[in-house]
Amino acid sequence: MKLITALLATATLLKGAFAQTCDTPATVSGYSNSALPDPFTFNDGTPVQTAEDWECRRSQILALIQGYESGAMPAAPESVTATVSGNSLVVTVSDGGKSISFNNSITYPSGTAPAAGWPVIIAYEYPSLPIPSGVATLSFQNSNMGRQDSTSSRGQGLFYDLYGSSSNASAMTAWSWGVSRIIDALEATPAAKLNPAAVGVTGCSRNGKGALMAGALDTRVALTLPQESGSGGDACWRLSRYEEQQGSSVQTATEIVGENCWFSANFNNYVNNLDTLPYDHHFLAALVAPRGLISYANTDYVWLSGMSSFGCMTAAHEVYEALGVPENHGFEQVGGHSHCQWPASLTPTLNAFINKFLLGQDVSTDYFESNMQFNGASWSESQWIDWETPTLT
Ligand SMILES: *[C@@H]1O[C@H](CO)[C@@H](O)[C@H](O)[C@H]1NC(C)=O
Ligand SMILES: *[C@@H]1O[C@H](CO)[C@@H](O)[C@H](O)[C@H]1NC(C)=O
Repeated sequence: MKLITALLATATLLKGAFAQTCDTPATVSGYSNSALPDPFTFNDGTPVQTAEDWECRRSQILALIQGYESGAMPAAPESVTATVSGNSLVVTVSDGGKSISFNNSITYPSGTAPAAGWPVIIAYEYPSLPIPSGVATLSFQNSNMGRQDSTSSRGQGLFYDLYGSSSNASAMTAWSWGVSRIIDALEATPAAKLNPAAVGVTGCSRNGKGALMAGALDTRVALTLPQESGSGGDACWRLSRYEEQQGSSVQTATEIVGENCWFSANFNNYVNNLDTLPYDHHFLAALVAPRGLISYANTDYVWLSGMSSFGCMTAAHEVYEALGVPENHGFEQVGGHSHCQWPASLTPTLNAFINKFLLGQDVSTDYFESNMQFNGASWSESQWIDWETPTLT
């Protein structure tokens, strides 16, 4: 017995000594690339070859996105509790001797909840896509968590009451943190009758940027549904810059940091040197893989950078492809509707993703389509994607 214990202890020590460490710096110095960076190459230039490699690469990407543009996500807080009464869920978070509470309203389906609780879509403010019967909606007042009034509302909101107004976390991170605390609360509060293993997150426009970030940062989000998120969401910074160079008046990184405090103050240092970013937003979407993701884009508004969203999601799709689940990543890009108004023609694609990822049905989610109406900008895959897609199994 003693011998076995000693052998096991030695084996554990050896495993510790030989295990590959995964280095996750917040920045990579000396990087320069005008094309879309390669998700399948580690920061040190070595190739990503297996699913296990991807786990490490994913951690690197997570650290880079926080390091350059979204600011640091705090470690899990000391306590999260919740009370449910009627249609409201009040979440209380305590950390470091301080505490905050936020109130979320819920729309429940009619009928008896499934044993595990209803599937639920967390909507930033309110949903602007149709949530089918059988799925609850939880309205998250993200602007109370991190104000988004202008660049001068940086550091304001409940998140900063807890972590201090000098936290480098941007509004995007503050909102994602709020989504994570709601999921903690659902895990701790069966009385809410909402299933923490069947959570979707959505938002439109600025809140669509936020919804994509939340799905990227918390792997408990089963389905991510960004709507008309544009630059800072499903568009890539470099591609939006190119659209502007081609004469389209799109929202670019330089514009965005002057418009609001969505991204960290640190990001201001990079918006005029985008080539030095060792990532772009195809990496943000890739953080969601292999979980469900479909983003919706609207080509009727030039500033929504249609080519950028299409190209960026085309690049992100390669990560789903590499992981063997391309159908888990959808993209639909049409015109003919106002900003954040839902085109009914897309409802079957939304229902398919909800049926698969929130209701556990075995249905096809093979939807990746665009009208390719890019207001004069053109997409050329070979210009932007100069890397190969491995098979990571
Ligand atoms: C939460 O919001 C609901 C609806 O506005 C309200 O009835 C309830 O009193 C609020 N709860 C708390 C604790 O503020
Ligand atoms: C942001 O804050 C974290 C700690 O919360 C720190 O590790 C990181 O270096 C900071 N980043 C910047 C760019 O200041």
